[in-house]
Amino acid sequence: MLEEYRKKTPHSRELFERAQQVFPGGVNHNIRTFGTTGCGAYPPFMARGNGSHIWDVDGNEYVDWWMTHFSQILGHNHPRVMEAIRQQMEGGNHLGALNERQVEFAEHLQKAIPFMEKMRFCATGSEATMYAVRVARLFTGRRLVAKAYGGWHGGNDTVGYHVKYPFDDEPFYNGVTFDFNDVDSVQSLFEKHGKDIAAVIVEPVIGAGGAIAPEPEFLPILREETEQAGSLLIFDEIITGFRLRYGSAGKNAFGVEPDLITLGKIAAGGMPLGAYGGREDVMEYANPKTPGSRWVGGGTFSSHPLTMAAGIAVLEELSKLRNEYARLNRRGDETRSRLNTIFNDYQVPVIATGIGSIIFVTWLRKELEPPLTGYRLAAVVDHEHLDIFQTLLIESGVFGYHGLGALSFAHSTEDIEQSVAAVEGVIQGMSDKSTVS
Ligand SMILES: Cc1ncc(COP(=O)(O)O)c(C=O)c1O
Repeated sequence: MLEEYRKKTPHSRELFERAQQVFPGGVNHNIRTFGTTGCGAYPPFMARGNGSHIWDVDGNEYVDWWMTHFSQILGHNHPRVMEAIRQQMEGGNHLGALNERQVEFAEHLQKAIPFMEKMRFCATGSEATMYAVRVARLFTGRRLVAKAYGGWHGGNDTVGYHVKYPFDDEPFYNGVTFDFNDVDSVQSLFEKHGKDIAAVIVEPVIGAGGAIAPEPEFLPILREETEQAGSLLIFDEIITGFRLRYGSAGKNAFGVEPDLITLGKIAAGGMPLGAYGGREDVMEYANPKTPGSRWVGGGTFSSHPLTMAAGIAVLEELSKLRNEYARLNRRGDETRSRLNTIFNDYQVPVIATGIGSIIFVTWLRKELEPPLTGYRLAAVVDHEHLDIFQTLLIESGVFGYHGLGALSFAHSTEDIEQSVAAVEGVIQGMSDKSTVS
């Protein structure tokens, strides 16, 4: 196994050996081993991308489903976005002062997401979620934060708890937790802690926690419980923002408006961005002149002009494509359903989850009865088989994580066909070798 991969990727192999000498685990983001080290291999080092394809340092070409952690919905190397960055570079890359582009970008965002009455920019999604919770704590005068099991909101200590099953990561336990899609768990949490909860932070579609779409009642219940308890509702739309619809998925796809929203990824097309915003009365706590405010929003690289320029270009391009989202979502839905048919046909314990263009593939240790909740899925993931699957998929020229990842507007029908065939080939190989228990 993986002999072919080793033969094709000598430069990546050598680079990973060097990387391990300088970075713990060889990486600067834990998931960038893409499951390869789990089965004794090493990750490919990527050299360039264009549209829906990506090339490694050995010249191997892949259909990319990872798309820069879901950021490149327009495709890699988009000419308009690259040109905006190039033009902005001419005046120096960052002067550490106010710049015109930041106002323009914020105005675009506000037009796309009108409930972002006020907003702040930072450099990463991890900062955005940390600051969003901070303003919520200041506004409510409460400390407790509530999140979903498996929800990943970035690497800050405020929300970086209960991310990985079995969710026993003391001492980083800062708040309380509910099960995504389990209304009872939300209601009992509010019965017990409601008056102390400053904010619920949740993705409208849980991402790293399994790509699970919300049941129709789930987001409305979160809205209702937070309102009744005087807590705030924060939608972390760092993946879903501009992914399912132009603007907020919570509002535009599922009909629920939060008090605050966090954005990143797609909104700046691969440049480092975090944004948080929403109700003006809440966001006023980021204003140092507001009585009772604390330090909210530092950041040497906040509202970086290159990010702002890229963001404006992305939003202008996406607003032209706003009517194309339905088609993109349909292609994703059809692809997911074809994959699930393949898994059924081969009788492998594998499930494709997601909604619209988001497609994750997960190996399971046990059959999963509906309803699909974050906790129930996390409890049965077969990481060993998933790592093998992921690595073999990379070997066969399809690059992704969480099984696959997400389609972009740049993916062609051939890309999808190649990917489905590759998944089937890997599944067939794995079942032939009886690696499935
Ligand atoms: C839903 C969600 N929130 C927050 C983050 C953190 O963003 P960043 O990696 O830019 O810090 C991520 C990143 O994957 C994410 O998926």
